[in-house]
Amino acid sequence: MREGETPVSKGTFITFEGGEGSGKTTLIGGLADRLQQAGYDVVTTREPGGSPIAESIRAVILERNHTAMDGRTEALLYAAARRQHLVEVVLPALARGAIVLCDRFIDSSLAYQGYARGLGMDEVWEINRFAVEGCMPAMTLYLDLEPEAGLARIRADAGREVNRLDLEGLAFHRKVRDGYREVARRYPERIVTLDAMQAPDDLLREAWLHLAAKLNETK
Ligand SMILES: Nc1ncnc2c1ncn2[C@@H]1O[C@H](COP(=O)(O)OP(=O)(O)O)[C@@H](O)[C@H]1O
Ligand SMILES: [Mg+2]
Repeated sequence: MREGETPVSKGTFITFEGGEGSGKTTLIGGLADRLQQAGYDVVTTREPGGSPIAESIRAVILERNHTAMDGRTEALLYAAARRQHLVEVVLPALARGAIVLCDRFIDSSLAYQGYARGLGMDEVWEINRFAVEGCMPAMTLYLDLEPEAGLARIRADAGREVNRLDLEGLAFHRKVRDGYREVARRYPERIVTLDAMQAPDDLLREAWLHLAAKLNETK
């Protein structure tokens, strides 16, 4: 499988990947603050975010009672939600020149559905290729963390909503991590692996260096 060309657009598309509790939401918030202070137009989003159609699709996927969900059905629904969010939220923001920080994108499907659920990364890549039509991130920051540590962070966070994937066993989350590492090996030119055990401030500093370098390069 090969990655597509990013279509011509004025903005910069950055995605964030990693297991549950790896610190994606926290890091995106920190980077968005810094970007705004530096005067950039920045849009933060998570995949179904801001698109009612994509939110509805995601609700079907994450519904706790849907234990009979077939693996390929799940993969197709994720690809459908991704497509709708891309069209409604990401592409318009990029067209006006914004920096889009997106919490999860295509690599989540490769790691969760392709690798951990065993559908095959190449197969999942194919349906997602159809969904994203060549619109790939300029850079992906992957937060690498032992699943035990991520799940412990989630459990300590009393206010957090627990979804169907959070309730999967540790063995599944270990496979997800192995899947992410395989994806990072396949796309070294796009994916930057960060040690997510670092304290939030240290992680933010390291991520900022990569982001600033990417913005200089694409200017
Ligand atoms: N680098 C970090 N070190 C320790 N705890 C963190 C770190 N980053 C985030 N956290 C905490 O871990 C929990 C999960 O973080 P979050 O950003 O929501 O992760 P994710 O979005 O990847 O699931 C939150 O309670 C958050 O405050
Ligand atoms: Mg999050």
